[in-house]
Amino acid sequence: MRNIHRRTLLKGAVATVIMPAFTRASTSEILLRAKPASVQLVDADHPQTQIWGYNGGVPGPQIRAVQGDQIALRLSNDLVQPTSVHWHGLRVKNSMDGVPGITQKAVLTGEEFLYQLNLRDAGTFWYHSHNRSAEQVARGLYGVMVIVEPDAPDVDRDIVVVLDDWRLDEVAQISEPFGNLHDHSHAGRLGNFIHAMFDSLPAQMATNERLRLRFVNTATDRIMPISLRGVSGWVVARDGMPLKKLEPLGILTLGPAERADVIIDVTAEHDGEVLLIFHDRNQGYVLNDFRVSGAAATVRRPKPTPLSPNPIETLVSVAGARTIPLRMQGGAMGDLQEGLYKGKMLSMRDLVDQGQIWTLNGEAGLPVEPLFETPLHATIVFEMRNDTAFAHAMHMHGTHFQEVLPNDTFGPHKDTVLIQPGEARDFAFVADNPGKWLIHCHMLSHQSAGMKTWFRVG
Ligand code: C2O
Ligand code: CU
Repeated sequence: MRNIHRRTLLKGAVATVIMPAFTRASTSEILLRAKPASVQLVDADHPQTQIWGYNGGVPGPQIRAVQGDQIALRLSNDLVQPTSVHWHGLRVKNSMDGVPGITQKAVLTGEEFLYQLNLRDAGTFWYHSHNRSAEQVARGLYGVMVIVEPDAPDVDRDIVVVLDDWRLDEVAQISEPFGNLHDHSHAGRLGNFIHAMFDSLPAQMATNERLRLRFVNTATDRIMPISLRGVSGWVVARDGMPLKKLEPLGILTLGPAERADVIIDVTAEHDGEVLLIFHDRNQGYVLNDFRVSGAAATVRRPKPTPLSPNPIETLVSVAGARTIPLRMQGGAMGDLQEGLYKGKMLSMRDLVDQGQIWTLNGEAGLPVEPLFETPLHATIVFEMRNDTAFAHAMHMHGTHFQEVLPNDTFGPHKDTVLIQPGEARDFAFVADNPGKWLIHCHMLSHQSAGMKTWFRVG
């Protein structure tokens, strides 16, 4: 963290804050209207940016509800393209999962779809378009869901922080096209404007104040390593699921779609500052700074205790479990020679002509047949092997998995995991949610260029 630059990556721009309309879920329906809008994304020196957003904002309305609630959300499509909404990380009924071609038909322009969700887990989740998502999410079709624990920890403030990365031109408009071959075959569509959007922005902070920050990486492809200065704290949840053991907060690296809840205490003194820093190689960029004024308490509070666990099965053993290889291949500097696409074996050159660059187990695009079928309650182990030159953010729908570690120990429940080049890691889960579920790379450029497959439970 030697070089700290007080600027974001777009020259002259400062990070902005957008306070989305706040929607408290109740028994009534929440309307999500997907439509074009213009928002002040950059600063007042730049023009407004034309986006696509839910209810005209980005992020879309923040959905807050209490664990155990049932909520109904009506998607209404005012876009020029079909769309759908996926509730990322929520363990919902299959028919509500929002995947066109797998769980529903895409919602056409002018049409609507009613989603009904049972909120089984508390935590930080998000929702986003799942149709042409490399374009629709890049244009702004996403929002955050906060499912509150009945016994939420005692903090002074609870703040959502959305991290996003935009590719903008000089007049702050979203650059097209969305599917260029170079992006798709490398690390995806990386932007030139990275910012953190807070749902409520503290004008200042106070020494010994305790905050809960809910970080969500909504970027289509950008991995976000961030850190905080002037505070000390712990990661208490990942991907919405409470950690059994709190992790001390250092550099927090979130791949696309990953979330982390942190609890921090302000340790900076009066007149000091708290910084949110984005790390890019050896450089640090200040995304936000907060002045510290006065003290909230004379001493720090005791270390927080872990959040209450969610009602999801925890693995105790993978003895006798079924193993499913999941080999990632392709991309630039990879050694993929050929791959199956729409039932035909194609050479790498022919795959590229079809816009397909990545394969899972030798196949690009969504296969007609599932990768595997399993009876309910079986334990499944994915043997993930990244035989490519790039990291991938592998995401499974329907439930969370846990990394298989030595001596019958398991990592935290996750719905998205960053797998680095050359890594071989195993992730296991109990197939307790019936239906057809996707597993794909959440670098949405990679997903649209082939990295997706599906399986059937029950
Ligand atoms: Cu967040 Cu299949 O996606
Ligand atoms: Cu990928």
